[in-house]
Parts: sequence; structure tokens; C-alpha cells
Amino acid sequence: MWWKEASIYQIWPASFKDSNDDGVGDIQGIISKLDYVKNLGVDIIWLSPMYDSPQDDMGYDISNYEKVYPKYGDLNDMTQLIEGCHSRGMKLILDLVINHTSSEHEWFKQSRASLDNPKRDWYIWKKPKYVDGKRCPPNNWLSYFSGSAWEYDEATDEYYLHLFAKSQPDLNWENEECRNAIYNSAVKFWFEKGIDGFRIDTAGMYSKDQRFLDAPIVFPDNEYQPCKVFHQNGPRIHEFHQEMFKKVTSHYDAMTVGEVGHCSRDELIRYVGASRGEMNMMFLFDMVELGSDPLDRFRYMDFDLTDFKNTVIRQSEFIGTTDAWTTVFNENHDQARSITRFANDSPEYRVKSGKLLAMLQSCLSGTLFLYQGQEIGMTNVPKEWPIEEYKDINSINYYQELVEKHPKDSAKVKEFMKVLNLIARDNARTPVQWDSTAYAGFSGVEPWMRVNDNYKEINAASQVDDPESLYNFWSKCLANRKKFPSLIYGQIEILNLDNKDTFEFVKKTEGKDEIYVILNFSQKDVDFTPNSEWKLLITNGDNSSKLTPYEGRIYSM
Ligand code: GLC
Ligand code: CA
Repeated sequence: MWWKEASIYQIWPASFKDSNDDGVGDIQGIISKLDYVKNLGVDIIWLSPMYDSPQDDMGYDISNYEKVYPKYGDLNDMTQLIEGCHSRGMKLILDLVINHTSSEHEWFKQSRASLDNPKRDWYIWKKPKYVDGKRCPPNNWLSYFSGSAWEYDEATDEYYLHLFAKSQPDLNWENEECRNAIYNSAVKFWFEKGIDGFRIDTAGMYSKDQRFLDAPIVFPDNEYQPCKVFHQNGPRIHEFHQEMFKKVTSHYDAMTVGEVGHCSRDELIRYVGASRGEMNMMFLFDMVELGSDPLDRFRYMDFDLTDFKNTVIRQSEFIGTTDAWTTVFNENHDQARSITRFANDSPEYRVKSGKLLAMLQSCLSGTLFLYQGQEIGMTNVPKEWPIEEYKDINSINYYQELVEKHPKDSAKVKEFMKVLNLIARDNARTPVQWDSTAYAGFSGVEPWMRVNDNYKEINAASQVDDPESLYNFWSKCLANRKKFPSLIYGQIEILNLDNKDTFEFVKKTEGKDEIYVILNFSQKDVDFTPNSEWKLLITNGDNSSKLTPYEGRIYSM
């Protein structure tokens, strides 16, 4: 299985590299940096949506699966990118967004045209509910991007379902013709162009509970309520995945990774068990959503190191005991920067604690994913940035709903701005910091989104040739990972789970190597004497009898 030992690098096209100075990243920009990615030791590139789109949700609102967003390029550029990856021995996977389309997609335009349009049933339409003579949505479901999950359409006097933005209507997977159109246009079309697989967006949401009941009230202060129980892991979800695999994916030597989020152990085995014929692996959100209310990420509490360790257990405990496979990641385009979230982004500890996280990630089992900029230690945006610098529809809608209820200078709004700064998706979406020239070398003109103020201190140009840099440390960790089967395949045994300073564990594979890892997540020195027979493989410290703040070590036993 070529994808098990692979390291995957995610590219988010709008912010990777602008080749023609219009302020927006593009495919030629990506092509110009393929050697940079390859040199890190990466095997596969995952490219986030580059399809034609009005960009209300940065391309996760697709208006044509078979066309490229013109600002990013065209089909020829994509062919060149596929060849550019393949000629360097890398593979390319795309993002498969098939829970919904853009409302600008031709399918939806037809669907909304009349009640008897042949494509009417390709989306989810319901009659209004009338309460005291007032027209209301069919039920109380809350959209992930705030407000009702239903939008009224005057032309036919019905509502359509959109779990995300109003301009992202959900496709009706109950309709077989619609499913076949998805398989052909979104999936087969790209396999035939030579791509090697897909990251499958919102892969647990296609099958909705057809009763469309009101969701239980969990947030009494809200008009609309989280409705996950009615659309996540729904009644026909596995049938749909098996059908898609059988009809299309199984005809190619492809890998698939599904975005599923939270899942019980039994449920996850149904999606990614080796014999299931659904997907190869999936993203679980235990680590990245640590501290957040699972029903509303902006209701944020906090966490300690034991909570953090437990997320590692939950995301990998089935490795070695079942035939299911998993992923290792702590960043992507929907998450904040890991050094800020899980380590220490102050100038004193930024690089060192970034190396600590690299050691952790590279010793966990599963297929490893890195997100653009993570390899150079890009951080969250500065705390002082006002709401105007945030561009994501998720951040903006939530903020607007809040300021409709509370004054802008209220404690409530100020508190929210802190949480936003900590976990907003915008943190991952600032332009990649290539060098210390204007706009961080991302573009020759002012980019679509502000560059993080720290680009003079944090950029790729200053790191690629510096053996002590985070970039080269990542590269070393990725190479080390491939030398020891237990790092990729082994079961994890966490030692001293309740210790809030150090994260300590052993990785083993029967009859093969054994690895011991200790990582000091605190700002204190910690006494430590290794077994004299162990061999030190990697450290970000000086190998004394103390672990200095954020020092970690990886030993073979
Ligand atoms: C997934 C994507 C996210 C997008 C959403 C709707 O969660 O990762 O960026 O907003 O789906 O498509
Ligand atoms: Ca451009």
C-alpha cells in the first residue's frame, strides 16, 4: 500500500504562490515550488479545491467539477501539475467536494427553476412550515456557517437544505441519477486525467435522516440547533461509499482519505476497515478540536497535556488491533497553526517547540499530513488584527451574528475575538512566507489576504539552507520515520499519562524495532536519564541529563 508510508503535503491554492502577480496563488505558482516540496521528503501532494467556483467558501463551493477556477489556471495547467508531480516521483490527490455544490452549479440552477424540472430532486427541497401564519424553515437545523440550514427560494415557494453556506446547497444522495452524475463528473473525470486519489470532503454527511425532524435543543439561547445526529453517519452512508468505490475508485490504483471528524471506534472501522471497500483512511478531529465544544467550535474551554495525549490514543488505538488505517495531522486549512495551539509561538521557543511537535507527529502511526507553512513554523495571525482582516465566511458569519446580539465593545465580543484569534481557519490561510521581501515573496502585489506580520522572521528562504532550521528538522524527522516500521505501523504505549509536563511513549512492532520518545511540553527543566544502551536518533536539545524546555528525544531501544 503505497499510501501507508507516504508523507502528504497539503496545498491550499489561494495562498501558496502567486505566479502572475494578481494577488492570488495559482497552479503555475505551485509548479514553480515542486522541488521545494519534494526536497522536504514528501511523497504526495494534496491540492485543496482548484475547481471553478464563486469562492464563497474558498472553492469548497464548486460551480463546475470539470473546469479550473480561472484565477488558478486551466486544465492544461493541471495536466502540467500532474506530470510535474509524477516526474518527481510524487503523486497528486485532489479534494472531492460532493456533499454540496455551489448554487451557481448548472445542476442547481436547473433544480431551482421549477418543481417539475428533471433535476429538482437532485437537491433537498421542502415546503415551508407555517407557525401562527408565519413562514418558517421546515425544521430547526443550524448551518455550520451560522443561521438556519434552510434557504427559502421564492420561485417555487420551497426551502433547500444547505448545511454550510446559503450558496452551498446539499446534493440529494437519495437520487440515483444524481449520484451517478457525481461519480462521473467529480470523480471519474479527474481519475481519467491521471490523479492518484482524493481527500473526501465531509465524507460522513451524504446520507441524511429522511424524517427531517427537529434537532434536540442544546443551545437554548439559539434559534437553530446543531443537527449532526441527523446527517452524520446517516442510514445509507456506507452503502453510498461502497457504491462510489465499486463503480469508480476501485478501477484505479488510488488512495482516499475521508474527512469524517468525530466517530466511534465501531463506526470508523465501517468507513476504513481494509475489507470494507469504502475509504483507506480518515481524518479524526480529536486533536485539532481539542478544547472546543464538538457542536460549536467557537465555544472554547481549554485543555491540558493529558487531554492532548488522550487524543493521540483515540486517533490511533485501533492500529495493530484492527485492519483499519489512520492519519496523523495537526494542521489543515480549517485549523489554526499547531505551534500556537499546542506548543509555544513566542520568539524564544517557537522553533524549538515546533521541532518538538515535529518529533511527536513523525513518531505517530498512520499516514502523515503536513499543511503548507507548517514545515517552516508559520504561526497564527497577530492578536491585534481586527475582524476586517479575517476573510473566512465561518469567522465572519459567526461574528456578525454575535454583534447583532451584543455591542461591538462588549466583553462577550472581546472574548470571542480572543477565541477567534486562537482557532479561526483564517490562521492557516495567510499567504505562505517564502522570503523577507515585500508580501513575503508570495506575490508582487498586495495579496487577497494580509501576510502575517512575522514574515521577516519566519520564511522559507532563511531555512532551506540552514541545517538547524525547522524545515530541515522536519525533513530529518520524515526520513527517520521511514527507517523504523514501528513509527508508522506500531502500537503506541503512553507512559505516565497523567504527567502534565512530559509526553512519553514507546512504539513497537512485533519482532522488529522499538522506539522510545520523551517530549518536554513544559517551560521547566525536567530530570531525565536514558537507558545507557539506547541509541539517540533525534533531538532538538543538547543531550544532557536534563530535558530543557520543549526539548524532546527519540531513541531506538
Ligand atoms: C470541509 C472543508 C471546509 C469547508 C466545508 C464545506 O469541512 O474542509 O473547508 O468549508 O467542508 O465544504
Ligand atoms: Ca495568480
